[in-house]
Amino acid sequence: MIAIVTGASKGIGKSVAIRLKKLGYTVVAVSRTPPEVGDVNYAADVSNKEEVKKIVEETLEKFSTIDVLVNNAGFGVYGSFHETPLEEEEYMVKTNLLGPIYFTKFVLPSMISKRRGNIINIISEAAYVSSPKLLVYSATKAGLASFTNGLWAEARKFNVKVSGIYPGPVKTNFSSHPSFKGVKNSFDKFAVEPEKVADAVVKAIKTGKREIYVPSKLLLDPYFLKFSNLFQSITYGIVSKWFS
Ligand SMILES: NC(=O)c1ccc[n+]([C@@H]2O[C@H](COP(=O)([O-])OP(=O)(O)OC[C@H]3O[C@@H](n4cnc5c(N)ncnc54)[C@H](OP(=O)(O)O)[C@@H]3O)[C@@H](O)[C@H]2O)c1
Repeated sequence: MIAIVTGASKGIGKSVAIRLKKLGYTVVAVSRTPPEVGDVNYAADVSNKEEVKKIVEETLEKFSTIDVLVNNAGFGVYGSFHETPLEEEEYMVKTNLLGPIYFTKFVLPSMISKRRGNIINIISEAAYVSSPKLLVYSATKAGLASFTNGLWAEARKFNVKVSGIYPGPVKTNFSSHPSFKGVKNSFDKFAVEPEKVADAVVKAIKTGKREIYVPSKLLLDPYFLKFSNLFQSITYGIVSKWFS
């Protein structure tokens, strides 16, 4: 069984890669600084279409299959919209949204031809609650959620399972981006260990659920989000049945 995990040099991606290896997967790990956790390690930028294409082509050439794709690489830039450099925001859109789209574009045909596979996108609660000073980040995650939901409906008829994972705060290097310098993050005390997200990835592989929440230590956040999404879930059930 072959799994590609992006953003595997640290944080959530590293935990996911370690967990999948324990479950017997051969892991192809990707991040800009060379990852060490994979059986095959690529130092690559997910915002670079050509690099992504090469990784997928080489993996298929070597192993003939990709069973699981975990689109996890991403980052946030903290600050007021009017003060944040546009180039940083563009790079965030390319990494958090186009990166998963590129990987999916190149991996999906092989999964469709084999009538199996899991595509798992690490999104965020920020997809549903746009946060001030993280609003372009929130927009990238809302875009990724929308892409994931549509793909779930489109791919299920080929037995390709698509899941979005929505963590609250997680203890990683996420806030080590220079823009967070001096910011007291009040969410830190509610942050959970990255292994909780790895648990959710395993659940996604087993169930193919469209949405999986990883609650903060508050435990209440998914209930608020689920309630606000109740009718959306019914809508996606109908859409996947009648319009795909
Ligand atoms: N931590 C949280 O509270 C939280 C909550 C909800 C969702 N998330 C999401 O979880 C995902 C993982 O974040 P994390 O919390 O684990 O943060 P992290 O510890 O900073 O890890 C981010 C990973 O993404 C990689 N990465 C970033 N930009 C990349 C690029 N352009 N190309 C390739 N790799 C890239 C980083 O490696 P290099 O720097 O070496 O490239 C690193 O391996 C992100 O999508 C984030 O939005 C995090």
